[in-house]
Amino acid sequence: MKALADCRVLVTPTSYAKNDPRLITELQRQVGEVIANQTGRPLSSQDVAELLPGCDGYIAGLDTIDRSALQAADGLRVIARYGVGLDNVDLDAANEKGVIVTYTPGANSASVAELALGLILALARRIPQAVAATRGGEWPRWGGISLEGKTICLLGLGAIGKQVARRLSGFDCRVLAYDPIQDAAFAQANGIELVPLDVLVGEADFISLHLPLLPETRGLVNTDFLQRMKRGAFLVNTARGELIDEVALVEAVRAGHLGGAALDVFTHEPPGADNPLLSQPEVIVTPHCASHTDGATNAMGWMALNDCLAVLRGEPPMYQVV
Ligand code: DGY
Repeated sequence: MKALADCRVLVTPTSYAKNDPRLITELQRQVGEVIANQTGRPLSSQDVAELLPGCDGYIAGLDTIDRSALQAADGLRVIARYGVGLDNVDLDAANEKGVIVTYTPGANSASVAELALGLILALARRIPQAVAATRGGEWPRWGGISLEGKTICLLGLGAIGKQVARRLSGFDCRVLAYDPIQDAAFAQANGIELVPLDVLVGEADFISLHLPLLPETRGLVNTDFLQRMKRGAFLVNTARGELIDEVALVEAVRAGHLGGAALDVFTHEPPGADNPLLSQPEVIVTPHCASHTDGATNAMGWMALNDCLAVLRGEPPMYQVV
């Protein structure tokens, strides 16, 4: 087995070490060579395929790590995903090549939950529109809606959904949640009603998505789903863009059926300038930045770095994907 000091490690997350430079200096101190992502964006499959030959470790952002990217990996031993989503990694292909995949469960839950809450409030009070109007010299007297007394629905009650639920408890709203894995004890302790999916969709004033992207969740929010939402309801997505049929969402917003939507994630990232979601006044858009906080980048960074180094040393990682 190659000594750690001779290993080459590719590091691609765009926020890696932004808040703690020791994440890079420590890596440089321990391994032979560090290859950094110079593009400032997640890498395409082709970019990854070009960089992986000769690499032993890979601290991976939101790059496309598919079968063809992994074919080029000749000595890779570990992909340490910096984040929780694994939809961008072909786990079967990695497994077939004997590459260990790790991730950082819980590291960004609070930060993603905080952005989801921020987007819910921004939609309710039309904050971006109010800022733009005031800057533009207007003094609009329009109204917003309060969260108090409204029904906020969490689609997905895993680590992130639970953090959103806990934070909502001070808003005097009704919180409903659907998750295929029911945590009745958490729901009871936090005053959440666990309901079937169709009840959640029909009752919601706000739906916030907190599901992983899986074959069964891809395109879940389609025309039928959106039509079953109450007129004027709002949709928030800080999970994965592919959960939503974007064409159907544009139609629902343009028709006035939805009151608005807030999206931190898109089917194609970054979305093309011609993506109609970018120009809908009632759609708030942010650049997949839910995890870009000091707390989350440090936690993701250290968990990914420690597991990458552990595997390269021949030790078991803490957070191997099962
Ligand atoms: C995640 O955890 O997957 C976030 O999208 C950041 O990578």
